[in-house]
Parts: sequence; structure tokens; C-alpha cells
Amino acid sequence: MAEFSDRANAIQPTGVRKMFDLAGQDAIHLGLGEPDFQPPSVAIDAFHEAMKAGHNKYTTTAGLHALREAIAGIWQQYEPNLTADSVCMTMSGTNALLTTYLAFLSEGDNILIPDPCFPLYGPHAVISGAEPRFYPCTFENEFVPTVEDLEALVDDRTKAVVFNFPSNPTGATITPRERDELLEFARRNDLWVITDEVYDRIIYDRPHVSFLGAGYDNVVMVQSFSKTFAMTGWRMGYILSPNAEVVKQMTKLQYYITACSTDAMQYGVLAAIQRAPDYPSEMRDAFRRRRDLICERLNGMPGVSCHVPEGAFYVFPKVAVPGWSSVDIALEILKDGVVCSPGSAFGAAGEGHLRFAYTIDVEKISEAMDIVEGVLTRIKHLPPPEQSAAF
Ligand SMILES: Cc1ncc(COP(=O)(O)O)c(C=O)c1O
Repeated sequence: MAEFSDRANAIQPTGVRKMFDLAGQDAIHLGLGEPDFQPPSVAIDAFHEAMKAGHNKYTTTAGLHALREAIAGIWQQYEPNLTADSVCMTMSGTNALLTTYLAFLSEGDNILIPDPCFPLYGPHAVISGAEPRFYPCTFENEFVPTVEDLEALVDDRTKAVVFNFPSNPTGATITPRERDELLEFARRNDLWVITDEVYDRIIYDRPHVSFLGAGYDNVVMVQSFSKTFAMTGWRMGYILSPNAEVVKQMTKLQYYITACSTDAMQYGVLAAIQRAPDYPSEMRDAFRRRRDLICERLNGMPGVSCHVPEGAFYVFPKVAVPGWSSVDIALEILKDGVVCSPGSAFGAAGEGHLRFAYTIDVEKISEAMDIVEGVLTRIKHLPPPEQSAAF
């Protein structure tokens, strides 16, 4: 058979997806990062109306002007000079991320990526011909990187650094002082900053801290409506930068990747922004109740310690069962009917953790936590697997 490319051979399905595929029909799902809400009904209606009105065509690559203007308006609180021209619509945050990498990375370059992280960050670097270099975000440091760890990875082929707050998988956020130190690091090393802020509206106890408007122009924000308006299946996102040259380059590339975003759906998203602006906060309040419950339950279990996350809808507890890897533990929990993700699915530094996405109602979370507690209590007394399961 003819051969596949090195880049196709080099990447593997993620551990999150593998757990999902192994789950039985009745399993309780705390695996995938997908809100259990539907998009606001005004958005669904507007999408429908737009199709009926004939918006079923190609749009400009950057997308609907009114939508880009509305998006710029949202972010002007951080960066007042943003305009519609600061935004290019994409078909998801995933698409925005890959386009951004392709704009900044040449063959042989490297890019700094958090560990643990959203599992696409590393493979996207490989697809772009670059080397992913992982900086640790440790439990002990509340999952915030240190500048020393970042500095240690930089060389003359380091082009960009990815930051993701609130974080998937840890739920970590940062303070303005920590953000400023990270930007200072980027400035000193002349790096592009790619800031993934797709969870900016799911934040609990303090205002969101953005990398926009903090005095550094070589910054690109990757965004998505998947989490903000529960539109995972719509595949709508965007790239935003205060730097006009950056948006121009990205829009040029985006043309060759998807030509444009979906026509009618852009009207649906615009309706959500304009007519359901409080929808994300309502979802966030529901997530807060779940977060409080799941953290309390996890922290009461043997060998488990869990920070109470300040953002996103994930908890990333340390789960210590001597001799058992995070994959072994996740598989054992799965046998009893609960899907979670092994920490190692998010990078080497995730080993020793599990990720639970609290995207189900509190009754189901309680039921799932009873099961998890039962499994952890049981396996403590069992000999560890002779050979750890590999993912
Ligand atoms: C941190 C982070 N960035 C980006 C995305 C991509 O979102 P989407 O491709 O659904 O827009 C996700 C999805 O889980 C995520 O967790």
C-alpha cells in the first residue's frame, strides 16, 4: 500500500476519546468536555430563519461583519481598539488553533505548550512540522507555570507559547500579576502568545483575566462558541488579535483551509450574543453547584486531593493508589459504569490524576461519586495490575 505521511503516523487518538469508545450504553459520563445544555433558543431560531432567508452561501473568509463587530465589542473591555477587522471567524476553536499554529510555525521551530493540556495542542504542533515542548503546570503550584520552567525550554527556534486559562483539564485560572509575568517572559524572548480563552465565561470566584489588553501586541486569542453557548456541534469559533497584520495573515491562511465559516450559523451566533447575553452565566451557575458537590465528594475519598477549580467545568484531582497508573484506575472505574479521563491523556505531568468533566446533573454526579468512592476503596486492598494498561 502507498504510505501515509509522517505526520499522520505520528499522531494517535486521545485517551479521552478511547475511554468514551470503551464505555457501555448505561455508563455515567464525566469524560467528554461538552456542556449538557442546548444553545439558546433565540440562536436556533435565528439560524433557522437565516437558512430560510437564503443565507446558505459562501461568506467572506473573515465572516459576517455584524458578527465580527459584536465579537470585537465583547473584548473591547480589555482592548478598546479592537474592531471587526480584529476578528476572523473559524469553524471551531480547534480550527482556530491549527490556523494559528500554521501561521507562526515553520518546519523545525518549536512551541511551548502546557503539561497537562487540551490534548490537541501537541499533535497540532506535529501537524505544523514543529516540535511541541511541554512546560509543567503542577498541582503544587495550583497548575500555574513558573517562568523558570518556561525559560529553561527556550532556544533560538522557539516561536510561540500557548497559555490556557481557565484551563482544560485543570480548571486553573491566573491572577493579573501571574499573567503579567508570563507576558514579560514572552516579550523577553520575542515569542508569539497564543491564548486559548474558550472557557472565559465559565469562571466562578473572580473576574476573568485575559491576555488581551495587557500591553503585549504579539498575542492571538483562540476562541469558540462550543462552551460559551453550548454549541459544540455547531463548530463555530474565531481568532482575534489586536495586531492587524496577524489577522490579515491568518485570514489568508484560513481561506485555504475552510474558505469561510458557515453562513446561516453566523446569524445564529450573532443572535446568541445580542439576545441571550446572560446565557453563559446561567450555565455557569449550574456548573458551580456541580463543582462544589464533586470537589467535596472527591476530597472525602481515600488517597484523593482536589483543588477547587476557579474556572471551566473540570476537576483534576490527584488520585494516589500505589502501583496503579491513572489509566488503570480510570479503567477500573469504567468497569463499574463511570467514564472519566486518565490524567496521562493530557500529558506526562497528568499522571497521578484523573479528570472529571462535571457536565451532568447533581443527582448523576452523586451517583457517580458513590461508584468512584467504592472503586477507590476496593482497589486500595488489591494488588496493582502486573502490567499497567497502555493507552
Ligand atoms: C482548551 C480548549 N481549547 C479549545 C477547544 C476546542 O473547542 P471547539 O473545537 O469545540 O471549538 C477545547 C475543547 O474542548 C478546549 O478544551
